[in-house]
Amino acid sequence: MAIRRLFLFISMLLAMACSCAIASDPSLLQDFCVADKTSQVRVNGFACKDAKDVVAEDFFFSGLHKAGNTSNRQGSAVTAANVAQIPGLNTMGISMVRIDYAPKGLNPPHTHPRATEMLAVLEGSLYVGFVTSNPNNTLVSKVLSKGDVFVFPKGLVHFQYNYGTDSAAALAALSSQNPGVITVANTVFGSDPLISDDVLAKAFQVDQKAVNWIQAQF
Ligand SMILES: *[C@@H]1O[C@H](CO)[C@@H](O)[C@H](O)[C@H]1NC(C)=O
Ligand SMILES: *[C@@H]1O[C@H](CO)[C@@H](O)[C@H](O)[C@H]1NC(C)=O
Repeated sequence: MAIRRLFLFISMLLAMACSCAIASDPSLLQDFCVADKTSQVRVNGFACKDAKDVVAEDFFFSGLHKAGNTSNRQGSAVTAANVAQIPGLNTMGISMVRIDYAPKGLNPPHTHPRATEMLAVLEGSLYVGFVTSNPNNTLVSKVLSKGDVFVFPKGLVHFQYNYGTDSAAALAALSSQNPGVITVANTVFGSDPLISDDVLAKAFQVDQKAVNWIQAQF
């Protein structure tokens, strides 16, 4: 009887221990796994280059000192330093971008399906924000100055706007070697082929003319 009680007690303890959420960064099983982009092996990420062929350049990227070209309709430019540019980032769960903003430039509402982002303002001021998931859709926003840091939680729609009269720049760290970007306006109104205007008119509660007009902007 006493043994049965003890067993029950231990089971309860185990159940309690397992009910809490456990999450962590992916743990490496080796020092590095530099992406071998020529490999035909299909894995989640890239196959590893032979360690004896690994060189310093595999962990190197030069160019974040240069401002991106913001002469575009949004007035912003993203320069990425992820596994596409730095093969040594494969399996590391981290990457970086530089973002430049012309005066009134916008990095439009978008989400990174695979990464939380930590953004630091290098120059200028930015109005930034993200929106929480359904049903609340709470806007969490703030005006940032040089040196300020803001976090955009993984998967949430977020933006940065340079409301000032000078250009601005930021550096951001992202918790994925390949964060991915889904820009809300482009995916919804600029998909190929287009999403039917019946669908968009109903989703946005506007008439089809309004949908066609927005689609024409992409
Ligand atoms: C910046 O982009 C614009 C538009 O694409 C282009 O006309 C211009 O030459 C670019 N400027 C530089 C310095 O590359
Ligand atoms: C969402 O809104 C409801 C109702 O106002 C509130 O009870 C709940 O705490 C909110 N959730 C979050 C995550 O803010």
